Amino acid sequence: MLKRNSDSNSVAIIGAGNLGSAIAKRLVQEIEVIVTGRRKEILNDLRDRGCEVEKSNTKAASKADFVFITVKPKDVDSVLEEIKGEVKDKKVVSFAAMKKFEEIKKSIPNSFVFRAMTNVFAEKGLAFTVYYPAYDEELERILSILGEVHLVKTEKEVDLMTAFSGSAPAFVAKLIQGFVYAGLSCGLNAEMAKKVTLSIFSGTANALKEKESENLIKEITTPGGTTIQGIKKLEENRVEFAIMEAMEATARKALG
Ligand SMILES: NC(=O)c1ccc[n+]([C@@H]2O[C@H](COP(=O)([O-])OP(=O)(O)OC[C@H]3O[C@@H](n4cnc5c(N)ncnc54)[C@H](OP(=O)(O)O)[C@@H]3O)[C@@H](O)[C@H]2O)c1
Repeated sequence: MLKRNSDSNSVAIIGAGNLGSAIAKRLVQEIEVIVTGRRKEILNDLRDRGCEVEKSNTKAASKADFVFITVKPKDVDSVLEEIKGEVKDKKVVSFAAMKKFEEIKKSIPNSFVFRAMTNVFAEKGLAFTVYYPAYDEELERILSILGEVHLVKTEKEVDLMTAFSGSAPAFVAKLIQGFVYAGLSCGLNAEMAKKVTLSIFSGTANALKEKESENLIKEITTPGGTTIQGIKKLEENRVEFAIMEAMEATARKALG
């Protein structure tokens, strides 16, 4: 367990659901976190982990230095309406997909508004987070508790990250499910199929930090060997094309 730093800022997380609770679980290990939400079991769990649970969004916003908004896009406007009197000169960070910077700024013109995009790996400090529009040392320090963080120069990049950082883990989980089913279909037991699949995904990701995909494929694929049989099937089924189509469709929706 990391120690809380008494000099650090406090964060109010408005709407602790899937994403908000993942962020809260990680941040509370280092800084003060106040959460609001509607799901009792999530709020009880967060209280047990050291978060302050607050019923009122307005009160939560008034108590914290940073306000993170993690409600669904359709609920952002009503939350902004509720908290607008409490966030003058405060830093308000929206994690909602599709909700544009200018729209948010219009609702809370006297606040420092940011948009950020991350993913549920925040809980383990393994998220990939981008934020916009300007460098902020304190915010970057807080977001870095969640994992890798980058400032992006355009809002389009935040929207694209909705697909690439926010949604893509679900697609990778689908791919992994395919490998596990394949293991079962070929006669491996479920536990072993899952173990080997997770090992090859993390091993491949690790190896590709240092080399290009083509080189790894070349190393593994012996002429006339077993691997090329599988590669041929992947090519026939246009796997790369299917991934491109999935990502492009997701990004189109995120761009609005
Ligand atoms: N999930 C992800 O992996 C992910 C990744 C990147 C970005 N995001 C973004 O993060 C946001 C949240 O996504 P999510 O999947 O975490 O949604 P979620 O699980 O529905 O979490 C939002 C929570 O906020 C609660 N809520 C709604 N209005 C509220 C209000 N006025 N005051 C307090 N709480 C309120 C909701 O309650 P009810 O259940 O009663 O509606 C829900 O429990 C979305 O805007 C999404 O675009 C999500």
